[in-house]
Amino acid sequence: MKLTIIGTGYVGLATGACFAEVGHHVMCVDNDAAKVEILRAGGIPIYEPGLDELVRKNAAAGRLNFTASTEAGVEQSDVVFIAVPTPPLADGSVDLSFIEKVAREIAGAMTRYKVVVDKSTVPVRTGDKVTETIKRYCKARVDFDVVSNPEFLREGFAVEDLMKPDRVVIGVRSQRPVPIIKEVYAPFHAPLIVTDINSAELIKHASNSFLALKISYINAISVICEATGANVQEVANGIGMDDRIGRRFLNASLGFGGSCFPKDLSAFIKIAEQLGYDFGLLKEVQRINADQMNRFVKKITDTLWVLKDKTIGVLGLAFKQNTDDVRMSPAIELCLQLQKEGARLRVHDPKAMERAKAVLKDATFVGDMNEVAEGCDALVIATEWEEFKKLDLERVRKALSHPILFDGRNLFDPAEMERLGFIYKSIGR
Ligand code: UGA
Repeated sequence: MKLTIIGTGYVGLATGACFAEVGHHVMCVDNDAAKVEILRAGGIPIYEPGLDELVRKNAAAGRLNFTASTEAGVEQSDVVFIAVPTPPLADGSVDLSFIEKVAREIAGAMTRYKVVVDKSTVPVRTGDKVTETIKRYCKARVDFDVVSNPEFLREGFAVEDLMKPDRVVIGVRSQRPVPIIKEVYAPFHAPLIVTDINSAELIKHASNSFLALKISYINAISVICEATGANVQEVANGIGMDDRIGRRFLNASLGFGGSCFPKDLSAFIKIAEQLGYDFGLLKEVQRINADQMNRFVKKITDTLWVLKDKTIGVLGLAFKQNTDDVRMSPAIELCLQLQKEGARLRVHDPKAMERAKAVLKDATFVGDMNEVAEGCDALVIATEWEEFKKLDLERVRKALSHPILFDGRNLFDPAEMERLGFIYKSIGR
């Protein structure tokens, strides 16, 4: 099929590449001409495992193309996906101006029936607004259908999640676009659920809020574990074996971050408020998350006492493993708090150093994870990168002025760390 995707951010680019990989002909549109040039030259503006290879391969095969012209993109396809950013506004609500602008542009370029599919995360009822807008701005007065098709990919695992989705959600107002969207997704062999548009939009916010709730729940349990000497990982294993609960997203941490959970929680709380419902449960999820960071910083200051003139090593800057994304990263937030307390920082991340440099000033960026501890008073693990598990612990122990390690991601076994001579403080264990 011929498909157009507007917006080449994480979702748009990864989706476009995966659609091309299964044989569709995909045109990716971005209004940033410089970005389009980079993509055309075979460059990838983000780090996402496996994506560069997929983009290069499908571009070479002629199935993946890039343009800065929405008009050209809309003209060549019958199905147009919107995958532009929906950033947060200062009051927690969502900035829908990019969606609105793209809806107008699509409307202006339409000369025959189109299925306009919204993939961006949007508040419930946005589909209605997009429909109204297209109707208003479509001079050619042609038929169209608006479809909501929320995306559930995780950064760092985008290709895997897109190629093997656990479900595809399609929200529609009429049956006409259903077979078309089914054909788009047929090569993925995923379970498909067809709903009304409002339900599809809600599924996305309700999913992300629930996952964030799961993390805050286990983080709250971690506080009880610390107060009683229990082990949060064992508790998570025990409750996670119940199929109704599941083990995933029950890893206690210094809190969740990223460009989705914090934003989607605020948005969902705001949407509920506008609908007359006080979503206190989700406010508590936010509160627990903020508290988890404060508790971790306190753990560090309780142990090291005064941070002024001390040097702390921090491993991990990205908001999670397998990505270079530092947006709303708990690791960056931690670094800033430690700096505020007067600490000097030596930091490392396998992929996020460049992006971190823009938001983290006056830190020493160290290229090798095993060198970070040199001359430090303590080492902190802030992101769950798998490779940190392969840290040369003997070298780290010797390099630290005192062998203190704070693990905000529970990567190591406490008993083993003690045996190796560390003062080891993790989360809920
Ligand atoms: C999240 C959702 O998982 C995706 O399904 C969704 O499509 C995406 O948002 C989106 O809305 O676009 P993502 O933000 O890429 O994906 O990352 P996650 O893997 O969900 O991690 C989010 C945060 O939670 C990270 O800071 C991570 O370290 C933290 N986390 C995750 C925990 O602290 N504990 C866990 O058990 C799991």
